[in-house]
Amino acid sequence: MPAQLTVNATEFTLNNGTKIPAVGLGTWQATEDDAAYKAVLAALQNGYKHIDTAHIYRNEEQVGRAIKDSKIPREQLFITTKLWNADHKNVEAALDASLAKLGLDYVDLYLIHWPVSTNPETNKPYEDWDFVDTWKELQKIYKQSSKVKAIGVSNFTVKKLQKLLSANGVDVVPAANQVEAHPLLTQPELVEFLKSKNIKLEAYSPLGSTDSPLFKNPTIVEIAEKNGVEPAQVLVSWAVQRDTVVLPKSVTESRVISNIKTFTLSKEDFDALNNLSEKDGVVRTCNPGFNNFDD
Ligand SMILES: NC(=O)c1ccc[n+]([C@@H]2O[C@H](COP(=O)([O-])OP(=O)(O)OC[C@H]3O[C@@H](n4cnc5c(N)ncnc54)[C@H](OP(=O)(O)O)[C@@H]3O)[C@@H](O)[C@H]2O)c1
Repeated sequence: MPAQLTVNATEFTLNNGTKIPAVGLGTWQATEDDAAYKAVLAALQNGYKHIDTAHIYRNEEQVGRAIKDSKIPREQLFITTKLWNADHKNVEAALDASLAKLGLDYVDLYLIHWPVSTNPETNKPYEDWDFVDTWKELQKIYKQSSKVKAIGVSNFTVKKLQKLLSANGVDVVPAANQVEAHPLLTQPELVEFLKSKNIKLEAYSPLGSTDSPLFKNPTIVEIAEKNGVEPAQVLVSWAVQRDTVVLPKSVTESRVISNIKTFTLSKEDFDALNNLSEKDGVVRTCNPGFNNFDD
């Protein structure tokens, strides 16, 4: 019997009361040939309410155009963008530039993309500034303006979050931490820590990113075949079932449409995915040299 697939309409509530649709469209590497415009428009016409972009993806203008052309009322959508490393000392100007490209008055979630504050002139980390200073700038904007509904971080480890949360002058807990997560990188300690602080985990590269090893993984393929679904649908369903936001990216219309259709995994299949990395090893696909994941 094939599993019952439905367009996923799950919403989670962030720690400031803002609702976030569980499945959002990723848009990294959707830049050339209007790829993000086409993917976002297809997504919005097929049940997605949540789009994830970033300044560095160079597609905010395309995303904004698709939002406008979808004619969906703004308040029904959830749009995230991110502050780039070189803009940590210019948060409000960077946010204003993103909003202008998106053609929006506000974003639903604004994230520090990486815990790395880089001097754009030398391309090296600042010595007099770090992510705590940057967070205080986000806090100010969150409290004083209507440009962001919620603020959060990305690629933060437990250690970095502990440093942030215990710093003087920090009184807004990030609403979300966007990190790589999938059955070969389940991040159990981070998951527990985020739950204890009421910070939502957003799973990036949930399909294993470009040339994914997950689509060739025998357990994932077997679970997909058994349920009569795509491996990508297994991965998105698993992520929502463990209460995380999930951001599958595709610029292929048929995949955009199918990736948001999810089903309920049996306990046996859910557990097999939860424990997959014990059998097949841990795989991190997104590891740029400028970041330190051990600290
Ligand atoms: N905060 C951060 O630092 C960070 C880092 C990485 C990613 N992200 C966010 O997370 C999103 C997702 O991560 P990601 O882009 O790395 O990778 P992903 O969503 O895990 O995987 C995307 C890849 O899978 C392919 N794909 C999509 N659906 C498929 C399907 N049904 N069957 C087979 N292949 C399929 C896509 O190809 P096609 O596009 O050609 O269809 C693309 O090559 C990003 O787009 C971005 O929004 C954030």
